[in-house]
Amino acid sequence: MRIKHWLAFFSVLFVATLTFVAAKGPTNIPMKAPPAPSRPAVVKAPPEPANDDCLACHGDPDAKSDTGRRIGVDPAKFTESVHGALDLKCVDCHADLKKTTDFPHPSKLAKVNCAGCHQEKVAEYDRSIHAAARRQSAGSVAATCVDCHGTHDIRQKTDPKSLTYPLNLPATCGRCHGDPDVIKQGHIQIGNVSDLYKDSIHGKAVSKSGLMVAANCTSCHGSHDIRKKSDPDSRVFRRNIPNVCGSCHEGIKAQYDNGVHGIANGRGNDKAPVCADCHTAHQIQRADVASWRLDTIRECGTCHADKITTYRDTFHGQVTSLGFVRVAACSDCHGAHDIHGKADPRSTVAPGNIVSTCRKCHPTAGENFAKYDPHADKHDKARNPVLFYAAGFMKWLLLGVFGVFGLHAVLWLPRGFRERRGQAKHS
Ligand code: HEC
Ligand code: HEC
Ligand code: HEC
Ligand code: HEC
Ligand code: HEC
Ligand code: HEC
Ligand code: HEC
Ligand code: HEC
Ligand code: HEC
Ligand code: HEC
Ligand code: HEC
Repeated sequence: MRIKHWLAFFSVLFVATLTFVAAKGPTNIPMKAPPAPSRPAVVKAPPEPANDDCLACHGDPDAKSDTGRRIGVDPAKFTESVHGALDLKCVDCHADLKKTTDFPHPSKLAKVNCAGCHQEKVAEYDRSIHAAARRQSAGSVAATCVDCHGTHDIRQKTDPKSLTYPLNLPATCGRCHGDPDVIKQGHIQIGNVSDLYKDSIHGKAVSKSGLMVAANCTSCHGSHDIRKKSDPDSRVFRRNIPNVCGSCHEGIKAQYDNGVHGIANGRGNDKAPVCADCHTAHQIQRADVASWRLDTIRECGTCHADKITTYRDTFHGQVTSLGFVRVAACSDCHGAHDIHGKADPRSTVAPGNIVSTCRKCHPTAGENFAKYDPHADKHDKARNPVLFYAAGFMKWLLLGVFGVFGLHAVLWLPRGFRERRGQAKHS
């Protein structure tokens, strides 16, 4: 019985001594002793510095180095972070201090490498424009892991306090893409995207309505493998844009794919319009906003120049050019997404459908009314003979009137002068 007690006493003493030596050994700066290891086995290898070892010097959030650098780490924030909550050690990330026994440590440490634990995300990031820019120039200000995630306060994307929480993302990207200095230094040609996006329907849905499912920067660009729009693998490469918007606007995408523009885009015809041509990318508005509807007429006209010219000659075209949207715009007659050529029976302007198209606004329209040509061309004799001759007649009439009265005025001029001079002499 006695020997057992003595043995127990000595083994406790032995463990305590080892623990004391282990705690004291590596550091000679004043700090709290790290918690005792729970099993004696830990004692065998030299222990890694515990978080409290580091926090002895870094634990004051406002701590600064001799040179005035901020070196404080907020222990509360770290504990709440995804890594702190998992009991990660400081030296899991600051790996070059793993075996450090001598404090203070060298003033320059290696950059933290997230790849050790997040290889997949790092591989994705390595394919991005941000990583490419960093590789190309050491002075690049392009985003790294910590710019989008933070350092000691990293949280899951589902946490409302996270920089990557959907409603916070516009601000996270906007820290750079809304900063004139970064835009200039990074040669970002598109300019201040944050400002544009803020006022768009998606931006307002995120910032004002808190709508989680509205499009934020990463819904359209991705998070880690963000690429330039000129890169065919980019989500916003011209040909891929309908897929990006279609990931949410599935119904519209189906209509578009079925229409003449979508089919052409699917065949790789880059002259066909994609969603962003008509809606823009970052300034998207509600489809019933008057100014946007008027802009869209001009947008159709950039590709269908002859059709907008003839449209402008008509009553509808003149009224919209004055800024009123009550009358028919291109899409009122042709549709917006499921547009077809007039020979296609599905077309809203096909002979079988044209009356009902006009009737949307002219309820009493009949076959005769619909014969009115919305693209009547006064220069096209074959298509509109009456208009052609009427316009010709008006032109000659105008020229005739101006010719006769012009000649009259010229002939009258010398006589007018003479009379003036005579009057002057007289007085
Ligand atoms: C005795 C105090 C002390 C202890 C203990 C200490 N540090 Fe430091 N640490 C400093 C000082 C001082 C600096 C600033 C060095 C400078 O900029 O001159 C610093 C800088 C750093 C830096 C920035 C290095 C760089 O390259 O920018 C990191 C990271 C760091 N410490 C991590 C740790 C970790 C992790 C631990 C625990 C294993 C730890 N420190 C323990 C005093 C300490
Ligand atoms: C998830 C990884 C991770 C963990 C865990 C971590 N750090 Fe850091 N720490 C970073 C990153 C990233 C930086 C930014 C510099 C860099 O990229 O190397 C950084 C920077 C620092 C700096 C330099 C000052 C600053 O804020 O930029 C100090 C000091 C520091 N860490 C101390 C600590 C201490 C003390 C702990 C433990 C309580 C700790 N770190 C835990 C990733 C981590
Ligand atoms: C341009 C901003 C940006 C950069 C740079 C970035 N991330 Fe992310 N990361 C995000 C966003 C946004 C999310 C959340 C949405 C998602 O999962 O795509 C995310 C998610 C993650 C996740 C969690 C994935 C999950 O399933 O929840 C990890 C891990 C991660 N990133 C690690 C990294 C690492 C490591 C780096 C550096 C190589 C990095 N990120 C660089 C924006 C970024
Ligand atoms: C020592 C390993 C380790 C290192 C180094 C590390 N992490 Fe983590 N990280 C983890 C673990 C473990 C988790 C939680 C499990 C998970 O979700 O993958 C995590 C989670 C995350 C998450 C949240 C994932 C989610 O589920 O939403 C992000 C974001 C993240 N880490 C980013 C980083 C960044 C950025 C760095 C580099 C500065 C880094 N990590 C360094 C181990 C590490
Ligand atoms: C730390 C600053 C920073 C953050 C944060 C950042 N970016 Fe960037 N980004 C840049 C810089 C700088 C470039 C230019 C890189 C180059 O081409 O040299 C760039 C390039 C881009 C490009 C390609 C455009 C171009 O002209 O090269 C896109 C798209 C992009 N970023 C989207 C995003 C998105 C989306 C986010 C948020 C998830 C984001 N960025 C976060 C700095 C940042
Ligand atoms: C609804 C989808 C969508 C959203 C949301 C969105 N973008 Fe874009 N972005 C695009 C498209 C499409 C393009 C390319 C089309 C164009 O503008 O020519 C683009 C282009 C860019 C470019 C220029 C790319 C290049 O290679 O020149 C940058 C930078 C950019 N976006 C950043 C952002 C940032 C930052 C946010 C968030 C504030 C954001 N975008 C939100 C769709 C979107
Ligand atoms: C040729 C121009 C054009 C293209 C290309 C285009 N749209 Fe539209 N879009 C319009 C017009 C015009 C309207 C207004 C329709 C109306 O009010 O009758 C509209 C309306 C919308 C609406 C509002 C719903 C509605 O019908 O009123 C959404 C959402 C939309 N478009 C998304 C998209 C998406 C997604 C794509 C790409 C797959 C796309 N658009 C391609 C011109 C276009
Ligand atoms: C992440 C999902 C998502 C993506 C991706 C997305 N949108 Fe949207 N979009 C929405 C939501 C949600 C709304 C409704 C916002 C509201 O009403 O406040 C909306 C609204 C719109 C509207 C206004 C509809 C109306 O009723 O007038 C148009 C137009 C539109 N989006 C076009 C686009 C285009 C073009 C793209 C691609 C460049 C795109 N969206 C990408 C989710 C998305
Ligand atoms: C970016 C250029 C572009 C814009 C913008 C554009 N289109 Fe088109 N459109 C085309 C091309 C290219 C075709 C021919 C597609 C094919 O058949 O290969 C076409 C075909 C058509 C056709 C069928 C013509 C035929 O001969 O079969 C109609 C009708 C049409 N577009 C109407 C419109 C309307 C209405 C708008 C505006 C809401 C519009 N387009 C905007 C490029 C454009
Ligand atoms: C009042 C209704 C109406 C308006 C408004 C209208 N169109 Fe038309 N459009 C038609 C009709 C009807 C046809 C078929 C007439 C014909 O060419 O025989 C047509 C034909 C076309 C065609 C040729 C289709 C083919 O298959 O050959 C194109 C392209 C076109 N329109 C584009 C436009 C554009 C662009 C605008 C706006 C600037 C516009 N339209 C405005 C009714 C309209
Ligand atoms: C989006 C509604 C809309 C559609 C669709 C539409 N119109 Fe009109 N149109 C108007 C309005 C509004 C006026 C102004 C005169 C009025 O109040 O009746 C007008 C005026 C006219 C006029 C000159 C004034 C008059 O009443 O004689 C003609 C001709 C005309 N439309 C023909 C057509 C034809 C043909 C179609 C079908 C191919 C058509 N419109 C489709 C809205 C529309």
